[in-house]
Amino acid sequence: RRTYSHKLPGEHLYDDILFFGYTPADVLDAVKDFEVRDDDVFIATYPKAGTTWLQELTWLIMHDGNFEEAYQKPVYFRSPFLEFKDEVLNEIGLDIAAQLQPPRIIKSHLPVTLMPNQIQNRNCKTLVLFRNPKDVCVSYYHFYRASSSFGNFRGSWEEFMYMFLDGYVDHGSWFEYTKGWWGRREDPNTMLVFYEDLKRNLRMEVDKLCAFLGKPLPVPVREEIARHCRFENMKQNPMTNHMDVYSIDSNISPLLRKGEVGDWKTIFTVAQSEQFDKFCTDELGHLDIPFRYTL
Ligand code: A3P
Repeated sequence: RRTYSHKLPGEHLYDDILFFGYTPADVLDAVKDFEVRDDDVFIATYPKAGTTWLQELTWLIMHDGNFEEAYQKPVYFRSPFLEFKDEVLNEIGLDIAAQLQPPRIIKSHLPVTLMPNQIQNRNCKTLVLFRNPKDVCVSYYHFYRASSSFGNFRGSWEEFMYMFLDGYVDHGSWFEYTKGWWGRREDPNTMLVFYEDLKRNLRMEVDKLCAFLGKPLPVPVREEIARHCRFENMKQNPMTNHMDVYSIDSNISPLLRKGEVGDWKTIFTVAQSEQFDKFCTDELGHLDIPFRYTL
């Protein structure tokens, strides 16, 4: 591992995976003992894969299109971030989740090895969201710049790209994360979703999600959910756009930044792109995961 000038506030290693201070070791220990219900739905994503998008979609599907509540409560309270402990606001995802009425939609960025033990023996469902790693890396770079919990990264894009390839970022290596969850793709209670598919045909993906989640919603409700979750609409909606989150400086870069497939082309040089591709092939080429880098 190279050495980098940037340090995450409160950074530490847990099972050799890097975490920032908002995910302390005691919370990671407690996650393992988290009590899982059969009707829970987990949203498993690496940071910047489009987590918020899938949370809003899933919450609305599981709550029969309850837009009234969706317009009253921020998505991060309706669908808590399991391993997150906000020291400033004294909020812990685990506690918020424990108090929620079922069905609970629970977000986690944890690798499969650090998820609650009971996930294996309960009938709960897990949606795993994948996005091509070049767009993930660019999105993460901008989020690192904007977020004070990540220490408002001031280094160069190139330095960040190496940090990403090295797994020297919060929640560790995207490559290890992806290998772990890919291994779960044939589990009947797990569904793999691709960000690029959501972009290409959101309405159709809503149907697939409804089928997997066992929610035969009327067509007009499905249409309304897809409309509500379009990028422009979620960006304008204060319950989903995270403009009120104190740790994100939206003037530097908002959480809902561009919402595109292929934005990586605006920042990668040809040499960086080739190096990144080679790294991906060496690490993951044998798995043949159908990532798409353009639409
Ligand atoms: P960009 O930075 O590329 O714009 P996460 O929720 O996992 O932190 O991911 C954030 C990324 O998902 C951002 O990507 C954000 O714009 C994108 N995103 C969020 N909601 C979206 C939507 N409704 N449609 C498309 N992209 C969305």
